Order: sequence, then C-alpha cells, then structure tokens
Amino acid sequence: MLKLRNDTLIRALLRQPTPYTPVWLMRQAGRYLPEYRQTRARAGSFLKLCKSPDMACEVTLQPLERFPLDAAIVFSDILTIPDAMGLGLYFADGEGPKFERPLREESAIRALAAPDPDTTLRYVLDAVRQARVALDGRVPLIGFSGSPFTLACYMIEGQGSSDFATVKSMLYRRPDLLHHILSVNATAVTTYLNAQIESGAQVVMLFDTWGGMLSHAAYDEFSLAYSKRVMAGLTRERDGLRVPSIVFTKGGGNWLESIADIGCDAVGLDWTIDIGAARSRVGAKVALQGNLDPAVLLSSAAAIRHEAERVLTSFGNGSGHVFNLGHGISQYTPPENVAALIETVRSFSTRFH
Ligand code: CP3
Repeated sequence: MLKLRNDTLIRALLRQPTPYTPVWLMRQAGRYLPEYRQTRARAGSFLKLCKSPDMACEVTLQPLERFPLDAAIVFSDILTIPDAMGLGLYFADGEGPKFERPLREESAIRALAAPDPDTTLRYVLDAVRQARVALDGRVPLIGFSGSPFTLACYMIEGQGSSDFATVKSMLYRRPDLLHHILSVNATAVTTYLNAQIESGAQVVMLFDTWGGMLSHAAYDEFSLAYSKRVMAGLTRERDGLRVPSIVFTKGGGNWLESIADIGCDAVGLDWTIDIGAARSRVGAKVALQGNLDPAVLLSSAAAIRHEAERVLTSFGNGSGHVFNLGHGISQYTPPENVAALIETVRSFSTRFH
C-alpha cells in the first residue's frame, strides 16, 4: 500500500506531533470555485455530478490544485443514503434538497431497510476508489456520512427546515417510530462508512448538522446514542493503519464531554465555542477540528488573518488541532480569501508545534 506523502491530518487526529496545524475546509469542493461550477454545468445537475464517479473525482481534487490543503474529502452528499432507501431525492433549483416520498406513515417506516452500499451506493465507492488513485498519496482522503439523526430529519421532514417540527412532533408523540428509523439508519451509516473505508477512505467523518436543535435529554437519546452505535461498528484499521473518525455536531458545544466519550478520535466544533475552552474540557481524550466562522471568509485578507490567528492561539501549543471552518464554506466566498486563510494557518501555526 502506497505511503502518504503528507499524513499531517492523520497525525493531528491521533494527537501525534506535527510540524504545523493541518487544514481543510468543509465543502471545500463547491460553488465558490468557478471550475466546480463548470464541471457541474457539464454534469447537468448536482445529483448527476454526485453519481458520476469520474466527475465526482475531478471536483474532489479541484480545491487541492489551487490550495495546499492537508486533506481531500470525497465529493458526494449526506443524502445519498435516503436516496438509496428509495425516498426519491431531488434538488429543486435554489431550494435545497427534497424527497418525493418523505417518511410519515407507520407502514413505510416499518418497511424501511438499510441499503446495500455495494449496489445502490456503488457510485460513491467508485468515486472513493478513483479519488485515491488520482491523489496518489498526496494527502489523505476523507469519507463521510450524515449521522442517523440528521438523516432522519431530512427523511421525515422531506426537506430542510428551520425547526423540523414534523420530526420533533414524531419524537414526542411516537418515539418508538423515530427509534425504529434511527436504528435502521445506524446500520445503514455503519455499513456505508465501512464500505468507504474498504474502498480507500483513510478518515471518516459523521455530520450531525441538526443534533444541536434537540433538547438536552432528546440529544442523548435520539442523536448521540445512535452516533455511538455507528462508532462501535466502525472498521478501525486498514492496511495496518488507524482510520481516525471525526464527529461533528453543529450546536453541540454544550455536550462536548459526552460527544468525546462515544469512541471518536476527534470532535468537530462550530464557531460558537472557544476552542481553547473546548480543549480544556476534552483535549486529553480527543483531537478538535474547527472552528472559524465561515462568514470570516467573506471579509478582508487582514480580518481573515486576524481571526485565523485567534483560533490557532486559543488552541495553543501542541498537537490535536485540525484547522477547519465551523460549518461549510459559503458559495459567495472569493477563492483568494481561501488562499489567504490557508497561507496564514500554514505559516502562523508552526510556532505552536
Ligand atoms: O465537503 C465537501 O467538499 C464534500 C461535499 C459535501 C457536500 N455536502 C456537497 C454539496 C458534503 C460533506 C456535504 C454534506 C451535507 N449535505 C450536509 C452536512 C454538512 C452541512 O453542511 O451541514 C448536509 C446537511 C447536506 C444536505 C445538503 N446538500 C444541503 C442542505 C444542500 C443544499 C445546500 C446549499 O448550499 O444549497 C446540499 C447540496 C450540496 N451538497 C452542494 C454541495 C457542493 C451544493 C449543490 C450545488 O452544486 O448546487
């Protein structure tokens, strides 16, 4: 097996020494890049782009051609699983993801089954394999999935929402139904991530985008418990190397200690928490990933430098920090601002190592 030429990300996730703080950005391949918009136009739609391994591989590498990033993330979406479950994913122009058949009826919920990744999600595994070949050991490749709870949010609501009222209503009225969906999702996510690892993903990340909108008690019972089940079923080693896992809960700052306790190697932070404070709470147990406000990238090079230095300084000396945004990059980000950010992280972070 080919050796990684840059394993800074893996080392930081395992809290081993590194010469500088590694950096990658959530949604680093996306609409802020003109070359992404071109490939997407060629594909015809976002979903066709995701389902074409050649083009998905091409856009996975696009940000790396521009910026000295320390990781690639396979180009895909978290909603591939519910799509493979037969819910009928589509993207209405400018409106985000939607499902033709949201999960509402008890009979449909009872009939829900985890998809076989080798058939219905084969296009993702092919994209992983092709991206590994194209990367040729340059940087590690990250595979990912939505968390069981965040997937359930879209599956039940049928689209994004500001309050996920349908999901919460099921949670309080028919918790048994939601538990059933989450249990199927946990199996689906575990199998899917393991298939990505088997196909070449060197790190895996779980996106719990909506866990943060739950009450304290509901978060433990409906989100964290199922992410924990996924962690327990993950393949931990491939080709003799640890495959680190990252769990990101947007709005999860209140629950850092419990998230750090589910068996992940790293916890992703949004921008609402001070990373130094987070480190003193859980830094002996896990690495931390984050946590620049993505809106900073809409400002000036000077402000970007200032805010990036603030995050790095707050984390402080030593390994265990993967620099990232606190959520996905905005489509309105000027690419030169990303260049300024990566440059700052690379040069300013060496003093902490
Ligand atoms: O990080 C990367 O570069 C990998 C690609 C990636 C995408 N989606 C591509 C994408 C990843 C990791 C995701 C995860 C994802 N998808 C999440 C979890 C992370 C988060 O952002 O909270 C969620 C909730 C989704 C569901 C989803 N997909 C939404 C809500 C949308 C619409 C968002 C928007 O900005 O319009 C998508 C579409 C999507 N996924 C795009 C991209 C690049 C934009 C599609 C386009 O080209 O029009």
